[in-house]
Amino acid sequence: MSLTQHEQHKSRGPRVIAVSSGKGGVGKTFLSVHLAARAAEKGLRPLLLDANLGLANVDVMLGVTPQATINDVIQGSAKMESIIASTRHGFDVVPGGCGLSELTVLDANHQRLVLDELETLADHYDLVLIDTAAGIGENVLYFTSSSQSVLLTLAAEPTSLTNTYALIKVLSRERHVRRFMVAINQADREEAEFAFHRLQSVCDHYLHVYLDYVGHIPSSPDIGRCIQGQRLLFERNENDPAIADLTSLVDTVLDRPVTLDGNGNLQFFWQHNLSAALPVGTQAGAGV
Ligand SMILES: Nc1ncnc2c1ncn2[C@@H]1O[C@H](COP(=O)(O)OP(=O)(O)O)[C@@H](O)[C@H]1O
Ligand SMILES: [Mg+2]
Repeated sequence: MSLTQHEQHKSRGPRVIAVSSGKGGVGKTFLSVHLAARAAEKGLRPLLLDANLGLANVDVMLGVTPQATINDVIQGSAKMESIIASTRHGFDVVPGGCGLSELTVLDANHQRLVLDELETLADHYDLVLIDTAAGIGENVLYFTSSSQSVLLTLAAEPTSLTNTYALIKVLSRERHVRRFMVAINQADREEAEFAFHRLQSVCDHYLHVYLDYVGHIPSSPDIGRCIQGQRLLFERNENDPAIADLTSLVDTVLDRPVTLDGNGNLQFFWQHNLSAALPVGTQAGAGV
């Protein structure tokens, strides 16, 4: 991270990046965990919030057994600070609840409660990563549009491209999110660049958005094995060529200046710029 970003952090609180996708199973959690681990390696203090509420699995990927989850915060029986789990990779996790369908659609009060509780942690972290659910559900739209930066993950296949376009369309038209970092998973460089250009040309044609290609991750059997073994790709697979691409991708994301990948107005989780996260029509002075 550049000095400038450290300075920005000191004055404004942690940087917040949401990791989202149009379709599930495209590597959001894998990428979020490796972003957090790499940030920790660089000396930052990252927090990873598992916001795939109801179907959370960051803890499973990391082999962490949470004592309590965000469900306890939402029920009012725990404070966010008390449910944080440390990992052996140098970052902390807010575990999401699993198997509770009511978590999949939080009402406005509970959404606000999650942000309020997160805000109490602002001094402890430099970077907050939010691993969201897939699709265009309310939780995804809320967490994504409340964050400064959005990292979209997709596969280089037509269904993933179509669903990513749908997510970009809803986020841009209904929530005013204009800038998206884009990572393509399970593709070689050529396939990834081709998929990115297809996505970009449709977006350029129909939407007013800026897409920032941050890299690709090739398909690797080691990745499946790592997830099975609850360890990071960085840990034991030094010879896997996917490591170089993954490292380059996460470094690109971490090095992007906040002002360039923010959503135009540096909307800020910590300052409760909640009007930006509300659907168009409920905002004062909305209309783009
Ligand atoms: N680059 C890759 N190569 C091989 N398998 C991958 C790769 N990325 C992800 N996977 C597989 O896809 C599965 C889904 O990844 P995950 O990060 O849980 O997706 P999401 O969070 O988007 O649902 C993983 O369990 C892993 O087995
Ligand atoms: Mg996931």
